[in-house]
Amino acid sequence: MSTTVITGIGELVTNDPARAQQGGLLGLVTDAAVVIEGSRVAWVGPAAEAPDADVQVDAGGRAVIPGFVDSHSHLVFAGDRSAEFEARMTGEPYTAGGIRTTVARTRAATDEQLTSHVARLVAEMRAQGTTSLEIKSGYGLSVLDEARSLAVAAQFTDETTFLGAHVVPAGTTPEDYVALVTGPMLAAAAPHARWIDVFCEDGAFDVDQARAILAAGADSGLRGRLHANQLTYGKGVQLACELGLAAVDHCTFLSPLDVESLRDSGTIATLLPGVEFSTRQPYPDARGLIDAGVRVALASDCNPGSCFTSSMALCIALAVREMRMSPAEALHAATATGAAALDRDDVGVLAPGKAADLVLLDAPSHVHLAYRPGVPLVAGVWQAGRPVVG
Ligand code: NIG
Ligand code: FE
Repeated sequence: MSTTVITGIGELVTNDPARAQQGGLLGLVTDAAVVIEGSRVAWVGPAAEAPDADVQVDAGGRAVIPGFVDSHSHLVFAGDRSAEFEARMTGEPYTAGGIRTTVARTRAATDEQLTSHVARLVAEMRAQGTTSLEIKSGYGLSVLDEARSLAVAAQFTDETTFLGAHVVPAGTTPEDYVALVTGPMLAAAAPHARWIDVFCEDGAFDVDQARAILAAGADSGLRGRLHANQLTYGKGVQLACELGLAAVDHCTFLSPLDVESLRDSGTIATLLPGVEFSTRQPYPDARGLIDAGVRVALASDCNPGSCFTSSMALCIALAVREMRMSPAEALHAATATGAAALDRDDVGVLAPGKAADLVLLDAPSHVHLAYRPGVPLVAGVWQAGRPVVG
């Protein structure tokens, strides 16, 4: 198996809890090296002690971080909603109604068109340092269109999520649609999905419907996650905590009881600050959540409606500037905790045996991700040990 040593790393972010005592939350190592063997990390330590390898790369004093783990995206869609964004920026509120516009365009697209669109977005993400991602369905909303959306998503990631319960499509009643989602649609989707998700919100699905849909998914072997408390207060976060879900996403409007439940359950609150940026809503209280002992992840929510960014660096910058996370907390949330939100411990951490998913930054430290907002800092990406960017 071929080996590569990346040496001359001015600052290495490992996220390795074993290095927390000296290296803090990010398990920092200065003047570091990493050895990659095949698809895995083989060695991490001081550059002066690095073993030899077949290929040598000199980082020239720059920083290396784990690849971003984007645990929430909706990449399978067709069409454009920039007019809706433009209207929002001149005073229209965000509503979930725009989802139906994308559904019509997605249904009209061929599998080839959907696949090439997802491929373009995945490449865009990779070029910005994302090496693991979750992709949801949710713009098909028929048995056929949800199944083919997931089949497309599964070509790009193992972390695929069935979101038939995104909104109730036109021409059906909520009762009939929940029966479809928990019956034939779930049966068609399950072979292509690892997760099941529900948009639990006024105007989408209520907490009883969400409970029934998640239970049906669990019976088909799908693990649950939830969109909740995005547009207003509600019971979705409570449900996620009660069920012990890996993650509940958005968490923009939380009561004190919601925060306690998150802390006690260990369910990760995945915050999606690109959404608040792009909908001009208030940002979630990341600082309050972290100080209360809640685990917080950051993800892009890349989708054509509420937030069409693929940039985890932007999410980090917003989390630091607008949500009072420290740069270290934000990077940890976008890597190791993003991985935990997907029940994964093989990514988001650079330690022997973990996936060799690394990003070389054109910067001396991870702080530059927030310090230099909007600046493309990714100089190189290795995914499963292979150089894919740079
Ligand atoms: O996560 N909130 C629900 N779904 C997406 C937005 C979907 C859309 O507007 O197209 C979200 O924000
Ligand atoms: Fe979403």
